[in-house]
Amino acid sequence: SNLRVVIAAAGQGSRMKTRVNKQFILLKTHPVLAYSLDFFEKQDMVDEIVVVTSEKEVDYCQREIVDKFRYRKVSAVLPGGRERQDSVWEGLKHLSPDTDFVAVHDGARPLLSSDVLQRLLNEAREWGAAIPGVASKDTLKMVDKDSFVRQTIDRSMVYSIQTPQVFLYSELREAYQLAYEENYYATDDAALFEKYIGRVKVVAGDYNNIKITTPEDLMIARSLLEGREE
Ligand code: CTP
Ligand code: MG
Repeated sequence: SNLRVVIAAAGQGSRMKTRVNKQFILLKTHPVLAYSLDFFEKQDMVDEIVVVTSEKEVDYCQREIVDKFRYRKVSAVLPGGRERQDSVWEGLKHLSPDTDFVAVHDGARPLLSSDVLQRLLNEAREWGAAIPGVASKDTLKMVDKDSFVRQTIDRSMVYSIQTPQVFLYSELREAYQLAYEENYYATDDAALFEKYIGRVKVVAGDYNNIKITTPEDLMIARSLLEGREE
């Protein structure tokens, strides 16, 4: 069976507060987005990658990342949409119907591991949908608008969910189709699968697989990369 990848990199990166989009900021040796591309390019089980960026960054991304570093599995750099979900949808529609499994990944997560991807694919084969999660290290509380605690949450039941998220392609596509029919939006892909298709399996993620969101994340990512071989 084949595995294809959609990388969502079409956000504005507004919380980063830099002039260049966070996906293109230099980490150790490469821009943020290139680490994900490097990773998937090296996985034997991956045979195609589609990158989605903002419309005004499509040419830059194609030239300065895909062409420059010669990622041969990248079949297209496409313009995304207003919400992350719109961007992923553009990528999903681009993949051919013979796609068996799709991994949807945030371009802002440069620190993937092949162990996690292998676990995800194994579980997605069995369940149709598998996502990486890590237990919360902090105590979690529900807080009302007036900033008083409503309730302390049972931490053992709460996971922080990451990407890549792996799905049977036909089923994720179906979920997206149904979501658009009723204009339903969610912040990750699994939420659409949960709502329209069925159960989603959570597998052990990796605390190092952080999403670059605010400036301190750049420092953390750079120091995590120092400990890695090229
Ligand atoms: N993303 C996307 N299309 C959008 C919005 C987000 O492809 N319309 C992507 C981002 O590029 C990112 C991932 O979804 O790789 C996760 O989103 P987030 O971390 O929120 O990134 P941004 O939306 O770019 O950042 P911010 O919310 O701070 O503006
Ligand atoms: Mg965002």
